Amino acid sequence: MSNPSFIIVAIDGGAASGKSSTSRILADQFNLLHVDTGSFYRHITAELLRRQVPYTDLPALKNALGSLRFTTQLAGRSAQMLIDGLPAGDEIRDQRVNEHVSHYAAIPEVRQTLLAYQRGQVEVAQAHQFRGLVMEGRDIGSVIFPAADFRFFLHADPVERAKRRAAEGRQDSIAERDRLDSSRKTSPLKSSAGAIDIDSTHQSLEQVVAAMAATIATKLSPV
Ligand code: DC
Repeated sequence: MSNPSFIIVAIDGGAASGKSSTSRILADQFNLLHVDTGSFYRHITAELLRRQVPYTDLPALKNALGSLRFTTQLAGRSAQMLIDGLPAGDEIRDQRVNEHVSHYAAIPEVRQTLLAYQRGQVEVAQAHQFRGLVMEGRDIGSVIFPAADFRFFLHADPVERAKRRAAEGRQDSIAERDRLDSSRKTSPLKSSAGAIDIDSTHQSLEQVVAAMAATIATKLSPV
């Protein structure tokens, strides 16, 4: 097997479809940088809410977006986005952000603001000697890295996904976020042509990871 110098793995799927759990494990197994782009949208949302910039006020929104400075710090194998030097707080997983994030994420200017930053994680990964990156989100395989080495799309029954969130002790607007994320005009949540679709409803996390790892191992051996 030939090991390419750097691989990109894209994992997309709806809310609570298992993206974070699978991508963290794959990052460890293959020594990849783990990039959770949902946390970036959540951090921007929390910051705009803090600044009292509503998603309905486009001029104020553009103005605020233009003033934000994005940098990256590592937490283990995960990339953390800093806004004006500060990491996200726990509030990015709260119900207030859950309820607002899809509205902000539907605005093209917000997506455009994050586009180059997300692609720039390749340089972050290379600078820290990772063998590649695994990036999770909604539009990674369709928009951010359409030429990624592997593009996975995770599906799971909504009832099962709600159970997973409840087991984590968290409240989430799963169905509403999926509805908004799938129906927006810019970069909607959808499986793109050539992506590997995986339905995890009746599979354990270990089974899903094993299937993904076996596919990745056709190009890169685990560490
Ligand atoms: O992955 P998550 O559930 O934490 O993502 C939070 C929200 O961020 C999600 O409902 C929509 C938005 N998002 C997006 O629009 N595009 C991405 N690549 C990642 C997340």
